[in-house]
Amino acid sequence: MKRDEFEGWSRQHLAGVERSLERWVPEHAPAGLGVAMRYGVLDGGKRLRPLLVLAAAEAVNGSAEAAMRAACAVELIHAYSLIHDDMPCMDDDVLRRGKPTVHVKFGQAQAMLAGDAMQALAFEVLTPAGLDGAAVPPALQARLCGLLARAAGQDGMAGGQAIDLASVGRSLDEQALGDMHRRKTGALLQTSVLMGAACGEVPAHAWDALSDYGSAIGLAFQVVDDILDVTQASHLLGKTAGKDAANNKPTYVTVLGLDAAQRRAEDLCGQAQAALARSGLPGAMWLSVLADKVVEREC
Ligand code: IPE
Ligand code: IPE
Ligand code: MG
Ligand code: MG
Ligand code: MG
Repeated sequence: MKRDEFEGWSRQHLAGVERSLERWVPEHAPAGLGVAMRYGVLDGGKRLRPLLVLAAAEAVNGSAEAAMRAACAVELIHAYSLIHDDMPCMDDDVLRRGKPTVHVKFGQAQAMLAGDAMQALAFEVLTPAGLDGAAVPPALQARLCGLLARAAGQDGMAGGQAIDLASVGRSLDEQALGDMHRRKTGALLQTSVLMGAACGEVPAHAWDALSDYGSAIGLAFQVVDDILDVTQASHLLGKTAGKDAANNKPTYVTVLGLDAAQRRAEDLCGQAQAALARSGLPGAMWLSVLADKVVEREC
């Protein structure tokens, strides 16, 4: 029942995210840059981060306008991270979201610039100017920018990616691996939940619980990504399967083995559901379904 309703809820919100990205990612940026940016972010991807933002915002009766801006801003940072992650100097991949990667299609310099511009655009979207400016109160704009910047930067995604590259060919223990995964992937997922929550009024204990929820699903998401890299086919993933082994990366599969990695993901999902229950928020049902989906997903 909840699942059926979820499909309707997510279809509607995904369409809204698509329309907003379509509107906010400019086609006419100079020298083809806009074309590369739109190729990298429109029309593809599961859009899990935007759904987390929107589900968290609904759980706290948050502002819909602020939540949509936050949802698109997080997706822009995520899509930029994928463009750079795929470049030859990083994971060197040719397939993403079922299409040739941005650097394959547009060249390395344009891919780098598309990522750079998308990172900046995320913060433009969070700080609307002109007539749109009144839609999000300045204090909320600043708060959303701070949450996103901290999750994207040296202490979050970019820092985690640096550890990832420094770990090639090395064997990490589970703690070090978890630390890397929490930064490179978990931080942006956790901040998606918190940015959604920031769009409304949240008691301190519920904020902490949502933070714990986000932390658990954030790590679970990358554990499952590591699993799917060895269990799933490229055409289903929309990206090259077996890439972690080919690139000699330490992953949850290399460190724990497949079965234990799967159990770890399920355990983290249980932790996320427990945190959600602790939040005491009656409208958190979509966050609960999303946590299950993080672990059950097949791509
Ligand atoms: C892939 O993220 C990269 C990781 C952080 C593990 P997703 O699996 O969410 O990729 P899209 O957005 O659906 O393409
Ligand atoms: C990527 O991790 C995390 C990012 C910050 C983009 P991966 O390198 O495992 O992601 P995929 O498997 O290429 O999507
Ligand atoms: Mg990578
Ligand atoms: Mg990669
Ligand atoms: Mg991966």
